[in-house]
Amino acid sequence: MSTLVVTHVGELTTNDPTLGDETLSGRLHDAAFVVDDEQVLWVGPNAHAPEADRAIDAHGAAVVPGFVDSHTHLVFAGERSDEFEARMAGRRYDGGGIVRTVSSTRAASRAELRNGAAQRVSELRAGGVTTLEVKSGYELTTEGEVRCLEVAGDFTSERTWLGAHVIPPEFAADRDGYLDLLATSMLEACAPHAKWADAFCDRGAFSVDEARMILLRARDYGLAPRLHANQLAHSGAVALAVDLGCASVDHCTYLEDADIEMLAGSATVATLLPGAEFSTRSPYPSARRLIDAGATVALATDCNPGSSYVTSMAFVIALAVREMAMSVDEALWSATKGGALALRRGDVGHLGVGARADFAILDAPRAAHLAYRPGARIVATTYSATT
Ligand code: NIG
Ligand code: FE
Repeated sequence: MSTLVVTHVGELTTNDPTLGDETLSGRLHDAAFVVDDEQVLWVGPNAHAPEADRAIDAHGAAVVPGFVDSHTHLVFAGERSDEFEARMAGRRYDGGGIVRTVSSTRAASRAELRNGAAQRVSELRAGGVTTLEVKSGYELTTEGEVRCLEVAGDFTSERTWLGAHVIPPEFAADRDGYLDLLATSMLEACAPHAKWADAFCDRGAFSVDEARMILLRARDYGLAPRLHANQLAHSGAVALAVDLGCASVDHCTYLEDADIEMLAGSATVATLLPGAEFSTRSPYPSARRLIDAGATVALATDCNPGSSYVTSMAFVIALAVREMAMSVDEALWSATKGGALALRRGDVGHLGVGARADFAILDAPRAAHLAYRPGARIVATTYSATT
C-alpha cells in the first residue's frame, strides 16, 4: 500500500474535535496530512509532516473531508424542466410529476439508465462528493425497482428501496393492491439489493400508517428505515421517524415545535434539502431552530428530475448559509459529518486518523469560498480511498 502526504494546507477541516482548534470543525492552519490507499494515517502541522511515497503541495489551499451526499434519486430517465419553469411562474409543486419520470424510466434501457446515473455521479464527484446514497422509486414494479437498485449498485453500497414513492398509475384504483405488492413480492425481491428502506410520507403520497407498515415490513427483511417527511405539509411523519429509530428524516420543510423537540432528543438526523426549496419555490426549513434545539442536521442534494435537479454540494452549502441562517462551518459540517451520521457511518465525513482517505482540495484558501463564491468551481480535486 502506498502513502501520500499533502503539505502546505492553508486551512484543513478535519471534523475531529480532538484536532486543531478543538471546535467541531477540528480546524488546522498551515497543516499537512498523510493517507494510504485506505485511510488517514497522520494529521498535524506542516513543519512536522513525515515523508511518504508521494507528495502533493497544496500551496496554501483549503482541504475539506469529502462530501457525504446522503439523499439522491439519481437513477432516472426523462426530462421535466418544463415543470421547473411552470413553478417559477407560480405553479405549486405537489409531487405530481413523479409519474412522468416513472413512465420515462420504465421505457429506458438499462444502459440509458446507467449512463444517466454515471453522468450525475461524475458531476457530484467533481464537486467533492465521495460518499453518496441512491434511492430507487422511479419504476414502481418489482423488476423495475430491482433494476434501479442494480444500476445504483454500480456507484454505491448506500442503496435505498423507495418502492413507496407514489402509487403508480396502474394501481390508481387499487391502492391496497399496491400496498400489498410493496409489502410482499417487491420488498422480497428488492431487499437483497438495498441497505435502507424509505417512504414518501406526505400529502398525496403515503400516510403515516401506510409508511409505518412498509418500514416495519422492510425491517423484517433487514432494511434499516429512513423517511421522506413534511416536504409538502405538516404531518405526524417526524414522530413516526423518531419512533421507528430512522437514521434520518428528510426534507423537514414544515416542522412544528414538537417535531423539533422530538428530533433534538433522538438519534434521528434531520436531513435538509434546500435544493428542493430552491427549485420548488417553497419556504426553507428551520435549520437554525433545529440546531439551536440540539438536533443533528445533515445537508444533501436530493438530486432528482422533479424537485431538485442539483448535483453541487457547494450550491447546497451556499443555500444553507444564505437562506437557512447556517454558518459556513455548520453547513460544511452538515454536508460531511452530518451526512455520515444520516447514513450511520463513522468512517466518512471527517479526516481524523483512521477515517477513509476521502477529501477535496479546494481552489481557495478557505472553505468559506464554497458559499462565498456561488457558481464558481471551488473544488479543484476530489480524492477517494481506493480500497
Ligand atoms: O425528494 N418527494 C419525493 N421525491 C422527490 C421528488 C421526486 C420528483 O418530483 O420526481 C423529492 O423531492
Ligand atoms: Fe428525495
